[in-house]
Amino acid sequence: MQTMAYTNHWKQVLAVASLLVAVACVRTIAARELVDAAMAERHERWMAKHGRAYADDAEKARRLEVFRDNVAFIESVNAAVGRHRFVLEVNQFADLTNAEFRAARTGLRPSSRGNRAPTAFRYANVSVGDLPASVDWRSKGAVNPVKDQGSCGSCWAFSAVAAMEGAVQLSTGKLVSLSEQELVSCDVEGEDQGCEGGLMDDAFQFIINNGGLATESDYPYTASDDKGYEDVPANDEAALLKAAANQPVSVAVAGGDRHFQFYKGGVLSGSAGCSTELDHAITVVGYGAASDGTKYWVMKNSWGTSWGEGGYVRMERGVADDEGVCGLAKMASYPTA
Ligand SMILES: *[C@@H]1O[C@H](CO)[C@@H](O)[C@H](O)[C@H]1NC(C)=O
Repeated sequence: MQTMAYTNHWKQVLAVASLLVAVACVRTIAARELVDAAMAERHERWMAKHGRAYADDAEKARRLEVFRDNVAFIESVNAAVGRHRFVLEVNQFADLTNAEFRAARTGLRPSSRGNRAPTAFRYANVSVGDLPASVDWRSKGAVNPVKDQGSCGSCWAFSAVAAMEGAVQLSTGKLVSLSEQELVSCDVEGEDQGCEGGLMDDAFQFIINNGGLATESDYPYTASDDKGYEDVPANDEAALLKAAANQPVSVAVAGGDRHFQFYKGGVLSGSAGCSTELDHAITVVGYGAASDGTKYWVMKNSWGTSWGEGGYVRMERGVADDEGVCGLAKMASYPTA
């Protein structure tokens, strides 16, 4: 009798307990469904904003999962308040995996990384102490509006052309917009392979051999005979400063990194932890220091104006690592007029 009462008592406890567990489960599932619904709705809004359409429901479901993963990454980086001097955002690349993003939006050819024949460096004897604290080639009329390489691994052409446009403006006083397309379509005999990737030095060499480059406007532009290019000594940010104080400079970076993919603004620094494996090319168009003293490079990118700071990214300058943040000091070069 007593055993029976005892058993009944525990049966009741167990029943109540399982009821509670069941309620908790239902609530957890309901909560998860709410979160899922909210994310699906957010994805819908994002699709509308960016004019995205998918082939079918399966593709849409797959993209939602990628979107969810990217949103979690972006929010976790932004939540680490005080750790970074930059912020990320859910931008137009939010439904791409990082591998897809790298394949579509970078394009520095890996085969010849770092195997450069030595060149002269005309700014070797510039004294860093004599350089201005900040330089902005945009305000000096040497930089065209930000362009968009689209889904093509042609960063190398955009980087080379931006540096070339700067050199032409500095020597002629005219800002012309040169044709990346000519490089992408025609510079295919050597290392440069159009949308499959290329290198800036090879682009400069192509322009010299080609006797110039077509413009995107009415100004004909032809390279003069004394045109050439020089490399900035590798892993030397002081040397990069000497060059950048004198003209826009092409640089290679590990720009396929996820922090680049979703960069919104601020100074991208070592805290991003990006590698120094070069896969992208951009152009230094200035340098300066933020109000908190953080020194930065101003880099022109080729992912359109809605990415980053109007198409630009500021990257930390003068860090201890001699390869620079994301390897920015490893492979810089500029055309000579
Ligand atoms: C730098 O200075 C040294 C010593 O005066 C000189 O030999 C060298 O040619 C100079 N380099 C450049 C690029 O002007």
